[in-house]
Amino acid sequence: MIRSVTAQSPSSRATPPAPVIDMSTDLAGVLLPSPVLTASGCAGAGRELDQFFDITEIGAVVTKSIMLDPRSGRGTPRMAETPSGMLNSIGLQGPGVEVFLDKDLAWLRERGARAVVSIAGGSVDDFTRLASRLRHVSDIAAIEVNISCPNVESRGHVFACDPVAAADVIAAVRRNTAPGVPVFAKLSPDVTDIVAIAHSVVDAGADGLSMINTLLGMVIDTDTMRPALAGITGGLSGPAIRPVAVRCVYQVHAALPHIPILGMGGIRTGLDALEFVLAGASAVSVGTVSFHDPSAPARVARELAQALADRGFGSLTEAVGYAHRSHTAVPSARAERVYSPDGTQHPREAVEVEDLDPEFEAGAEG
Ligand SMILES: Cc1cc2nc3c(=O)[nH]c(=O)nc-3n(C[C@H](O)[C@H](O)[C@H](O)COP(=O)(O)O)c2cc1C
Repeated sequence: MIRSVTAQSPSSRATPPAPVIDMSTDLAGVLLPSPVLTASGCAGAGRELDQFFDITEIGAVVTKSIMLDPRSGRGTPRMAETPSGMLNSIGLQGPGVEVFLDKDLAWLRERGARAVVSIAGGSVDDFTRLASRLRHVSDIAAIEVNISCPNVESRGHVFACDPVAAADVIAAVRRNTAPGVPVFAKLSPDVTDIVAIAHSVVDAGADGLSMINTLLGMVIDTDTMRPALAGITGGLSGPAIRPVAVRCVYQVHAALPHIPILGMGGIRTGLDALEFVLAGASAVSVGTVSFHDPSAPARVARELAQALADRGFGSLTEAVGYAHRSHTAVPSARAERVYSPDGTQHPREAVEVEDLDPEFEAGAEG
């Protein structure tokens, strides 16, 4: 699945024009012209992807999670292929915040790209110091707080899996971040009740939610009969996790409809992105697919615009959370066709929805 790629000539960047549709989105007060962002850790600081498309045209680059000090990450092998996905245990390798600011953020600023800075730490104090360091740095559109890290002060329990620890981190970051810069808490799907974690971080001051981070997984090499990754377990990403991610976004949007969600997990195409938007995401991040198609963020943005136009939406915002609404199988009078999830088209009347059984709506079937 992973292959090395080489830069294309500028002429090969030529792409068909996107349909005219308002794709702008508001992420907790930050207005982005496009709802498609990169996913943290899958695009560095955007420099490599800029060879394949104009990085200033996507919503923002979400940078690899940065820590206070340089880290070499985990041992190798750090990646394993899985059915429709990928397992990684990079271990937050990075240059530390000072080098990040001097090199990566400076490059993004010079290039004119919007930056969402992802931060990670092993203690509440780490997060506090990182947020304080970033407080007076200009040109940061938002902070994404990667709370899927082990808390060194609590026997390595992951912050994102404990509502109190997650809230402590978010409260500290919010307190130490400039008021105009939104703080997004990045949630882990490895919890029994993601809605409870979402409530907890929002109560602690999160302005928005990013979801989902990778799921904890493991591969055993049947030749060596040992774990395939040096880190033994790793984070599962790619299309294999998309239904889990869509479910998380749907559940959290139902509970907290006014909190903006940046959705991610296995998005490869515009239709994949549309699923997240219909579930309640105001924007999406494109991650693993970029390893084999580095032009994916720009392509997904075009395809999403087309998919919205095909379904009669005049703007992205009209579609956010659409899957929660009953009685309206088509978005507006503009729609001449409606689409089933399998991609087939029907006359509008044929798919008008009935009231759902309340038990079914509550997810009682599973
Ligand atoms: C190689 C790799 C490195 C990642 N590094 C980070 C990271 O530094 N911080 C973070 O919050 N998420 C990180 N992620 C998770 C992604 O941002 C994203 O949440 C997840 O992969 C699901 O999206 P995808 O299936 O489109 O990749 C990483 C994922 C991959 C595959």
